[in-house]
Formats: sequence, C-alpha cells, structure tokens
Amino acid sequence: MNIRPASATDQPIIERIVHAAGINPMSLDWRRFIIAEEDGQTIGIGQIKLHGDGSRELASIAVIPERQGQGIGSEIIRALLANETGALYLTCRQELETYYARFGFRRIERDEMTPYFRRLMRLAGVFMMLARGKGPIVMKREQ
Ligand SMILES: CC(C)(COP(=O)(O)OP(=O)(O)OC[C@H]1O[C@@H](n2cnc3c(N)ncnc32)[C@H](O)[C@@H]1OP(=O)(O)O)[C@@H](O)C(=O)NCCC(=O)NCCS
Repeated sequence: MNIRPASATDQPIIERIVHAAGINPMSLDWRRFIIAEEDGQTIGIGQIKLHGDGSRELASIAVIPERQGQGIGSEIIRALLANETGALYLTCRQELETYYARFGFRRIERDEMTPYFRRLMRLAGVFMMLARGKGPIVMKREQ
C-alpha cells in the first residue's frame, strides 16, 4: 500500500467513496486529500478540512468495504496527523469514539468547541431530534 497526496484526477473517486460510505459529502476538494492505493486501486482516503473560524478537522476518512479492518484507516489517519501541529477536531458517530481515542482525540462538549462545531452540532441536534437517532460527537486532539 502507498499513501500519496491526491491529484485532480482523483476527484471522482473521492466523491464516489464518500457517497458510498454515507459520510458528509460537503467540502471534498481533492487538494486537501491523501489517497491510499494498492496496485493502482484507491482503497482509502482522508483529508484535513479548514473552516472559516480557523479550526482544522480530520475528515472524510473512508476505506472501501472489502479492505476495512486491515489497518488502512489507521495508516491514513497517522499520515494526516504527521503534518499537523496545533489543535485538530473531528466529528464522528458515537460508536467510533474509542477508535479515534487511539490517535489522541477525546470527546469534547459545547464549551470547548469552536464556533464552526457549535453551529454544526446545533444543526445536527435538530436533525437528530426529528430523526430520533443518536447524534454525532465532536472530538479534539491537542498538540
Ligand atoms: C471507520 C473506518 C475509516 C476505519 O478504517 P479501517 O481501515 O476499517 O480501520 P482500522 O483497520 O484502522 O481499525 C479497525 C478498528 O476500527 C474500529 N472500527 C471500524 N469501524 C467501526 C465501527 N463501525 N464501529 C466501531 N468501531 C469501528 C474498530 O475499533 C476496529 O478495531 P478492531 O480491528 O480491533 O476490530 C472504516 O471502517 C470506514 O471507512 N468506515 C466507513 C466510513 C466511515 O464511517 N468513516 C468514518 C467517518 S468519521
């Protein structure tokens, strides 16, 4: 497996993997992504999103279903973290809290969130109330 920065030709596969995984389809600019590939096939992706309030988010981490559970997601996360200094945030489903804790993230509450994440969680709260589901959580890694 090889991990490399994405290029413009990766844009369609990034979008396909994100849509198939059912994760947030907003802000999928290839310039922020890295690609995990094997024998020319893209097997996983991930990015760091930059928000208007200056916060940075580990996002769009996805591995194709046939290759999940083989450490590829962890490799993508480590590669993205290697270039980061300063606080980093993420949002995820509650069931992934222990997974991201392995990489130094811990769950935070509203008072520790930047304006972007507060806004996002307010919207998610309304949506989840209507859908009667479990809301996402926000996690933070200090550096
Ligand atoms: C979550 C995801 C990126 C992890 O990548 P991966 O390469 O499969 O994971 P790794 O091999 O690095 O690590 C495996 C660990 O992931 C955790 N994990 C993966 N999916 C999980 C899930 N749905 N619920 C809880 N834990 C999960 C487990 O702790 C697992 O540990 P184990 O190997 O001891 O069982 C991958 O499963 C995926 O693409 N899922 C669909 C998209 C998604 O939900 N992305 C996260 C957006 S926040």
